[in-house]
Amino acid sequence: MPFDLAGLRSELPGRQIEWHSVIGSTMTEASRLAALGCASGTIVGAEEQTAGKGRLGRTWHSGPGAGLYVSIILRYPFQPSARPVVTLALGLATCEAIQKATGIVCDLRWPNDVLIQSRKCAGILTELDGPAILAGIGINVNHTSFPEELSATATSLRMLTGRLQSREKLLVELARSVDGFCRLLEREGREPILRMFSSASSYVSGRRVQVDAGDSVLRGTTAGLNHAGFLILRQDDGRESVILAGGVRPCS
Ligand code: BTN
Repeated sequence: MPFDLAGLRSELPGRQIEWHSVIGSTMTEASRLAALGCASGTIVGAEEQTAGKGRLGRTWHSGPGAGLYVSIILRYPFQPSARPVVTLALGLATCEAIQKATGIVCDLRWPNDVLIQSRKCAGILTELDGPAILAGIGINVNHTSFPEELSATATSLRMLTGRLQSREKLLVELARSVDGFCRLLEREGREPILRMFSSASSYVSGRRVQVDAGDSVLRGTTAGLNHAGFLILRQDDGRESVILAGGVRPCS
């Protein structure tokens, strides 16, 4: 279904929105617009990405017309050290938007995987770009299938509900939720975000996981978030580690 850009603009008046039919990555264009001094909240979106970027150097499957592939340029007076909590806030915003637009309640896997029934339906990439933060958000909306390497772990809102979902409605909710959670972080600091993430995520406490940390794999049980928003892992050998990055996966 063609994207209703005029309808989107009327729901988000005053917001700069750039929409592309095909782009390499919306992150690259967002960085260009940020350097030109675009307003906070500016959205770059695309129907298709040919080089969609994921976390940890991965790619993001961005087939034509099916997903929401957007980067939102944020200008808030957050310190670079707040970036992990900004990422958590963006995960909460994405869950809230999905729930408002579709009624589906999502789980969050630290730091930023949005899951439904244990499968990934959205991911978030946060990049610092000078004084701006680029929030890259990909949501699997109307996909009916995925490439073989993703088919066991990915899902889409359509596959879950059996209905075509409105990407425009979802983006309106997403833009509002991102604003709301960033303002909350600006106004009240990290604690409310850490609290909300901990209660929205089944992964933050008491979950058996393995963490792929590049050259090693750590196994243990999650034991909450620290003040900076990093995940605490109680390892099977009794040691406690603070997970700064890496892929967290369930294990038995
Ligand atoms: C992840 O690995 O989970 C993060 C995926 C982020 C994908 C989005 S799609 C829009 C934006 N543009 C990109 O190239 N990546 C992000």
